[in-house]
Amino acid sequence: MMNVLKQPVCVLIAFLKLLLFTVRHMDVKQQHPSLYLEVCSQSEEPCLPLHTSIALFLISYCKCKSFKVFLVSTKPDSTRSLRSQLPESLDVCETQTESLPQLVRGCRLPAVLDETGRLCRAGLAVVLRHIINKSLEDDPSRNDVQALLGFKKTCLKACAEVSKWTRLCEIGIPSAVKEHLQNPTNQYQQLPLPILTLEQRLAEPVKVHNDDKIRRQKLQEQRHNEKSESAEGQGGTDKESKSAQSSQVCDGLELRAALAKLSVNPVPALTTRENSEIRKVKTTDLPPLEHVFAEGLYFTLTDVVLLPCIHKYLRSLEAHAASALHRLPHLLRWYRRVQEVPGVLQAAMACGMALSIPQVSTSSLPEPSAPDNASSLLVQEENQETIKQPPFVGGPRPTMTKLKESGIEAVFTPHPCPAWTLPWESLPGAINPTEGKMSNIRAVRKRQQLNNLVAMVARLARPGYTVVDFCSGTGHVGIVLAHTLPDCQVILIENKEESLVRAQTRSAELGLTNIGFIQANLDYFTGAFHIGVALHACGVATDMVMEHCILAQAAFVVSPCCYGFIQNAVKFTFPKSKRFQETLTYKEHMILCRFADQTAVQLPPERRLIGKQCMGLVDLDRSWAAETHGYSVQVMTMEPESCSPKNNMLVGRPPQRRGLEVGAGQLEAPVHN
Ligand SMILES: *[C@@H]1O[C@H](CO)[C@@H](O)[C@H](O)[C@H]1NC(C)=O
Ligand SMILES: *[C@@H]1O[C@H](CO)[C@@H](O)[C@H](O)[C@H]1NC(C)=O
Repeated sequence: MMNVLKQPVCVLIAFLKLLLFTVRHMDVKQQHPSLYLEVCSQSEEPCLPLHTSIALFLISYCKCKSFKVFLVSTKPDSTRSLRSQLPESLDVCETQTESLPQLVRGCRLPAVLDETGRLCRAGLAVVLRHIINKSLEDDPSRNDVQALLGFKKTCLKACAEVSKWTRLCEIGIPSAVKEHLQNPTNQYQQLPLPILTLEQRLAEPVKVHNDDKIRRQKLQEQRHNEKSESAEGQGGTDKESKSAQSSQVCDGLELRAALAKLSVNPVPALTTRENSEIRKVKTTDLPPLEHVFAEGLYFTLTDVVLLPCIHKYLRSLEAHAASALHRLPHLLRWYRRVQEVPGVLQAAMACGMALSIPQVSTSSLPEPSAPDNASSLLVQEENQETIKQPPFVGGPRPTMTKLKESGIEAVFTPHPCPAWTLPWESLPGAINPTEGKMSNIRAVRKRQQLNNLVAMVARLARPGYTVVDFCSGTGHVGIVLAHTLPDCQVILIENKEESLVRAQTRSAELGLTNIGFIQANLDYFTGAFHIGVALHACGVATDMVMEHCILAQAAFVVSPCCYGFIQNAVKFTFPKSKRFQETLTYKEHMILCRFADQTAVQLPPERRLIGKQCMGLVDLDRSWAAETHGYSVQVMTMEPESCSPKNNMLVGRPPQRRGLEVGAGQLEAPVHN
């Protein structure tokens, strides 16, 4: 009897084991972060936008298996035809925009939602850097993946709002290529400016840190080469082929140095000692290094971003306007070199990109020189960046007098609840800014600042509201708001990963459930919300936050900072309001900004008084600009005044929204005034 039973029992046990294994396996899978990638459609056919192709290519190159990938499309069942562009090993499923988690729906894709479902990372550069981070945590031996982050691990870290280079790579090139691909036969007369900018950048010699060694090596090779050439050539070699030959040799050296960096056991290619003659050459007399990859010598994340874009672009040019290829010699050379990086060809193939060498005979390429009109975006803008504002002569009085004559003076609305304070003594420790390394005096002042912001937000908030803490840092404002307003959802937005991860840890310690975190630049947050908050948003960050709130028809409570950093930016010009524009020039307005920063306690009281007046005027201009959108805005002083030298606070209420449709369907109640 027992024997008869034995077999089925064994089968049953095996089955149960399998089941258990499957369940565990599923569990593990559910703990993977989710990566959301967009699918678009072109004339009814589903296709992958460039940023999706870029993310897939990086995943393929890193052989990353840390994510569950969701392709987000507007129509069901549209991804089958895309199978050839998805690495086979990838765990991919399809989802629709409507069923995205709330945090993700408020962001532009690509986006990653972490295992807790509370931290969303959005935007191309942020997501790509996160993919690298995850790949390395899985396999720390991947030197080549580590190298993608570049020198000091900063590759594409500066956000596009700050760095022209990031903007070119993350936005400029992809949009130019996208535009070209939509109408490939129409544009070949004019190469897009971002492409020309890149072409020009690739033509410049590079500077790498500690490049002395490599440049000496290059000099040695050059000299060696000259000797052997003159030995064999004996006047027969014409100049052209000689220079072509030597440039090829140099190319070899730089490429070798770059590739050596990627291998698991770095090849000691450049460790041989140069002869003494070479060692004596002054640094300034060493030959410059040629550009090999986008950032200079080494293959980095930037090349990964550019590859799918440039691949599609060159393929299209080849098909529709092959003659234009001649104008992009450096880009072609870059494209060829990228293909020599180990792993790139296979990674591309797995994503359905068959890399090839466009058929342009190299001999007919013009001698690499500055492309058509060298006045490229990057050069122009970089110059602008480096030009410091001219040294300032004179004081702010003439400007202030001018305003006064037009009837414009700083006005501060009285604080509605100057003595209000949070019950700091009874709040959990992790909320209190005394936690951490803050000095006592700083902690007291920080608490005073928080009292002001929380008081204002609490007056505006209603149950069910979403409150966004912009530039949240480690979450001083957002966490106290989430604790104080349990009926509201609070979202913290910050682009510094370390800060946001700390905020998340603190919030988890407190067990807060009405809080979410977004690591992204402001532009990637598109969600609806009712109140925007920012404590000490530097320079035009204040204007960006206000603009974001106005677009969302949300109230705002903003305390500006660093007035001296204010200057015309891509999106904003100063002064902002019509009345200021009619009275002041840009330069005069900048005078106000400059002096608005002079409010430090160690300055003489008269200076500080003028500083405070200038602060008030700059913020008056901001508030008038917001009022043209129907807002009512008050500029007030935080209480006590000593809580910060930057103690202004702008409180803006949107126009009544009754009857207005709100975009993302997250807003229900109208804002009460
Ligand atoms: C990944 O990111 C986390 C959080 O910022 C960081 O602590 C960790 O060191 C990173 N890992 C690697 C391998 O860079
Ligand atoms: C090239 O750039 C300069 C400087 O911006 C500009 O003045 C000139 O018109 C441009 N030339 C062409 C042919 O576009």
